[in-house]
Amino acid sequence: MTAVVSLKGRSFIADDDFSTAELLRVLDRATALKDDRRRGLLHDEILRGKTVALIFEKVSLRTRVSFEAGVAQLGGHALFLSTRDLQLGRGETIEDTSRVLARYVDAVMARVMHHETLEGLLVGGLPTINGLSDLLHPCQALCDMLTVREKLGGWQGRTLAFVGGANNMCHSLMLSGALLGLNVRVVCPPTRMPNADILARAERHAAANDATVEVIHDTYLGVRGADVVYTDVWRNMGDPDTMPVDDLEPYRVTDGLMDATHPDAVFMHCLPVLRGQEVTAEVVDGPQSIVFDQTENRLHVQKALLVEMLAG
Ligand code: CP
Ligand code: NVA
Repeated sequence: MTAVVSLKGRSFIADDDFSTAELLRVLDRATALKDDRRRGLLHDEILRGKTVALIFEKVSLRTRVSFEAGVAQLGGHALFLSTRDLQLGRGETIEDTSRVLARYVDAVMARVMHHETLEGLLVGGLPTINGLSDLLHPCQALCDMLTVREKLGGWQGRTLAFVGGANNMCHSLMLSGALLGLNVRVVCPPTRMPNADILARAERHAAANDATVEVIHDTYLGVRGADVVYTDVWRNMGDPDTMPVDDLEPYRVTDGLMDATHPDAVFMHCLPVLRGQEVTAEVVDGPQSIVFDQTENRLHVQKALLVEMLAG
């Protein structure tokens, strides 16, 4: 395992920007912050005097609110910046935006249309967090890893089956899961295969952490014996409402599919959910669903990321 170095000043654009040991450090910090919050212990001194810019090219409920609330709970100030209100739409480059922000604030979190925009945001040298791109959603996946550890006791020997099209959420679960020793099965149609580079990286991480990453097209084979069944929307934010999704019809998570796992299996979804599309209401609102415990962990994990990246 790679030695832990300080995460102070680092960026988190891709799940595998951090080593296994570094991810564990963030998750352990998240657990401690969560326990402290339950006990009423405040940490409103850690980010005192620090400002975090939150840039959104796409809408958000969870990411925006959990970052804003998280920064406030740590004593810092969060600045919500919709791209509608910046100069980006008038031709100012993302690199210049980044250099300017570096003169004012201490860190940036950005939700972007195109993953490459995050590379442009790095030029100012600020610690930068990916709050979702078309390729990855690492904050969500890291929070999901915490939820899996809480619910299942750990990752080793456990299996998460992602059912649906291999999208940004799926890619981050592949990378984070593989780094932490969780087996990940991508249960997708041949028309929606994972990105080849992400798959290769996930396979490499899995091999180093005694885990596996597989792509399976048959839904019942794919979820058999899985401890977690995970799905996400069929159309990402920004995809046209008319984008065909017929190939995903057989990949809807139903009670029938959940019955093919074992009775203790849990259902996870990053939310927002479209009941009746990627999953039935019976499953997402049923006893195996842990989606709202999962959503709570966004707050604790993001606070932990900020503490590690800004305060060390
Ligand atoms: N899961 C998630 O990122 O939700 P938001 O799009 O509401 O931030
Ligand atoms: N895959 C979804 C995730 C939303 C949190 C999207 O990109 O819209």
